[in-house]
Amino acid sequence: MRQTLVAGNWKLNGSLQSVKELISGIKAGAADAGGTQIAVCPPFVYIPLVSELLAGSSVAWGSQDVSDQESGAFTGEISAAMLKDFGCRYAIVGHSERRALYAEDDEFTARKFAAARKSGLIPILCVGETLEEREQGITEQVVERQLDAVIKLEGIAALGEAVIAYEPVWAIGTGKTASPQQAQDVHAFIRAKLAGLDKAVADKVQILYGGSVKGSNAAELFAMQDIDGGLIGGASLNAADFLAICKAGG
Ligand code: 13P
Repeated sequence: MRQTLVAGNWKLNGSLQSVKELISGIKAGAADAGGTQIAVCPPFVYIPLVSELLAGSSVAWGSQDVSDQESGAFTGEISAAMLKDFGCRYAIVGHSERRALYAEDDEFTARKFAAARKSGLIPILCVGETLEEREQGITEQVVERQLDAVIKLEGIAALGEAVIAYEPVWAIGTGKTASPQQAQDVHAFIRAKLAGLDKAVADKVQILYGGSVKGSNAAELFAMQDIDGGLIGGASLNAADFLAICKAGG
């Protein structure tokens, strides 16, 4: 039985004050979220603060990105080992905003995935199609290509120690959620693909859905057989909204 994981991706949002308030609100309500695993992914600079505030709690934290490099002359980069130093459990890799706005391709994403794992972080590998790709009927091909780059570099077993997030680009920040069945179809496709390579990995890996998840639609999404939780953007910036989603998974 896979546990439900709800992770908040705060993106480029927050201030010292709002981070303190948000974490205090999440901590206060986390115990009521049943068996749901909860994580938050703040902007890098707030990770030390979040690690202090969440130490000893059941809420985990992670980063929104990670360098593919370990150290050296890579101005502006943050390594997986640095994130590990501040207690990160997760690192998001290949978010569609990184892919689209910063031209990060499948191979680069796979190297970030590898770097995260090497330092003991759990990568949250984001995959998903654009609206154009969905309309062309190539959703499965796109998702498969994104997964294959990681499998080629790291092997199928590596996905058993990772989290996958299916985030259709057209549903991100648009208020337009994939229907539970639309999401389930892609999640089932991902799991079947992995099962074709290694059944144990497919059974184990948590596959999250992301894209306009809210308290009002989380329960029906999480009730689908292959949806093991959510990666939450906008609604993770408000403690009550985020906790309502966490509860839907409990
Ligand atoms: P929204 O929940 O704001 O649609 O964002 C989803 C997302 O991109 C999470 O990584």
